[in-house]
Amino acid sequence: MAPSQTDIKTSTKQTTLFYLMGCSFFSVLFLFFCVGIYLVSKSSVFVASQSTEGTVFINGTASIGSTDHDFICATLDWWPPDKCDYGTCSWGRASFLNLDLTNPILLNAIKAFSPLKIRMGGTLQDKVIYERQGEPCTTFVKNSSEIFSFSQGCLSMSRWDELNNFFRQAVATVIFGLNALKGRTIAPDGSAVGAWDTSDAESLIRYTVNRGYRIHGWELGNELSGNGVGARVSADQYASDVNILQNLVDNIHTGFKDKPLVLAPGGFFDANWFKEFIDKTPKSLQVVTQHIYNLGPGVDDHLMDKILDPAYLDHVSQTFSSLREILKSSGTQAVAWVGEAGGAYNSGHNQVTNAFVSSFWYLDQLGLSSSYDTKTHCRQTLIGGNYGLLNTTTFVPNPDYYSALLWHRLMGRNALSTSFSGTKKLRAYAHCSKATQGITLLLINLDGNTTVQVSISTENVARNGTWTLQEYQNQRENFARITRGSKVDENIREEYHLTAKDGDLHSQIVLLNGKILAVNSSGAIPPLDPIRVGLSNPITIAPFSIVFAQISNITVPACI
Ligand SMILES: *[C@@H]1O[C@H](CO)[C@@H](O)[C@H](O)[C@H]1NC(C)=O
Ligand SMILES: *[C@@H]1O[C@H](CO)[C@@H](O)[C@H](O)[C@H]1NC(C)=O
Ligand SMILES: *[C@@H]1O[C@H](CO)[C@@H](O)[C@H](O)[C@H]1NC(C)=O
Ligand SMILES: *[C@@H]1O[C@H](CO)[C@@H](O)[C@H](O)[C@H]1NC(C)=O
Ligand SMILES: *[C@@H]1O[C@H](CO)[C@@H](O)[C@H](O)[C@H]1NC(C)=O
Ligand SMILES: *[C@@H]1O[C@H](CO)[C@@H](O)[C@H](O)[C@H]1NC(C)=O
Ligand SMILES: *[C@@H]1O[C@H](CO)[C@@H](O)[C@H](O)[C@H]1NC(C)=O
Repeated sequence: MAPSQTDIKTSTKQTTLFYLMGCSFFSVLFLFFCVGIYLVSKSSVFVASQSTEGTVFINGTASIGSTDHDFICATLDWWPPDKCDYGTCSWGRASFLNLDLTNPILLNAIKAFSPLKIRMGGTLQDKVIYERQGEPCTTFVKNSSEIFSFSQGCLSMSRWDELNNFFRQAVATVIFGLNALKGRTIAPDGSAVGAWDTSDAESLIRYTVNRGYRIHGWELGNELSGNGVGARVSADQYASDVNILQNLVDNIHTGFKDKPLVLAPGGFFDANWFKEFIDKTPKSLQVVTQHIYNLGPGVDDHLMDKILDPAYLDHVSQTFSSLREILKSSGTQAVAWVGEAGGAYNSGHNQVTNAFVSSFWYLDQLGLSSSYDTKTHCRQTLIGGNYGLLNTTTFVPNPDYYSALLWHRLMGRNALSTSFSGTKKLRAYAHCSKATQGITLLLINLDGNTTVQVSISTENVARNGTWTLQEYQNQRENFARITRGSKVDENIREEYHLTAKDGDLHSQIVLLNGKILAVNSSGAIPPLDPIRVGLSNPITIAPFSIVFAQISNITVPACI
């Protein structure tokens, strides 16, 4: 039974009516009463918004993870407009087969990163052929009796040309997901039978090289590892296919200075499967890609509760830690990426995974994954579904777009061991700064009622004559006596405070330091300007807000 929304509305109306009647019939008598209620409700709001203190401890002796300089990555998918989940069709024209490449916001949004990594792939990649001269090249057709509910589709070479020209212009670094089911049959139990047919991949890679397009990496398959999604390939077979792909890429690029990466399997983590696969690809795999949807299905009505629960957010660190151990113990050269992560699977959830609240999940996962030495994190999606960085129809950036851009501009490659002593609802990460010396903190307040005042403590800091923040804090009294215009003014940090418009976590509009972030009528991405705060003050993290704080004056060995 649907919750009786009309009942709620009606009862609210009746209460209001009663209240108004009370006030007008006995106006003199009730005036004080009404004002009293107003004051009480005001003051209870005030009381509820409390403040607490805590300290971020940063161990700057050595970094605990080192990301790619272009850690931020976003995906483009194949889903056609008639891909629907739970009765909603959220893809529009966001497939890279039909995306409007002339949209100025799209170009500006990617260019703002210079470079943004883009991973092209998704479920239907394992049902795609690449156009060959004289052969038919038709698009996906919905068909529920087919695996993944669509017919085979085709990438035309004219579209491939358009995409590559666009990526060059937008300064994107491209990973392309190859069809790993080509040549195999799927048994009724979902296991894929036979070896990979390389002919299509070879023809696409040769075409790409002949045209002079730069592809950063070729990834084999999508979600076929472990138990697979819809179909699965054994680790042993997958390893032998990847060895063949590596030879193919090597041969085609003989004499080239830069060779594209080989990535696989682009699937959900399964320790035994991944271990066997990695052990059997010692020389032919540069990147192990895993997919993460730790919020569960998009249809879940409690996604927001999960996102705001620190214990829930922490679960996924098990996966990062386990993969890191496998890589360490295997002796492989391969590194770990999150090849696809959209929060909630089956296209996300409107007004959650494309709204402000999503940044609590997204930025937290960027912080967590980098602290486990993940090199790149690909967000599902750049555009498309209900989890896009950009709105699927208007291309206007959603809050997570700006979160990603701030991370990209502020957080350097080295992740530092960081812990917070204080409320569990405050999540803290620190990296060496990207563009300046010193460190940058990411602080996430999952509490809607409590402001957190954060102090910083570094251990084992560089003793080379540079003042550290710790010392500043110890010296606060002395410094307070120094007059304006002297040294004190130099000792500031730059802060970026993100909040939801009107405090509504479902809002698709985000405020930076209290001002709405919006593209202008030419589709230009707005500047992201910090506020400057004296270093001796604690960092103030408002309820339900996210803060980046760039501090040039904290020097630690890991950032030298
Ligand atoms: C800081 O990290 C270093 C090396 O990463 C470690 O040896 C040291 O014990 C850590 N210090 C503290 C206080 O945890
Ligand atoms: C749907 O797929 C099945 C199985 O491949 C095929 O037999 C059938 O002809 C397809 N239907 C349409 C309408 O294309
Ligand atoms: C895209 O933006 C429009 C206009 O603000 C909004 O109505 C729509 O809900 C947004 N679409 C999605 C999927 O968020
Ligand atoms: C703030 O605290 C009050 C009282 O405990 C609670 O009813 C309310 O839901 C809280 N608000 C948020 C956003 O957590
Ligand atoms: C939009 O902003 C860009 C960059 O800030 C600027 O060059 C352009 O003139 C602006 N367009 C309009 C219509 O204001
Ligand atoms: C603190 O940082 C600012 C800006 O980076 C710099 O100008 C100033 O000299 C630094 N102060 C100290 C004491 O290192
Ligand atoms: C101390 O180290 C910082 C960080 O590299 C450097 O910028 C600064 O110049 C050094 N100070 C001295 C006095 O050597």
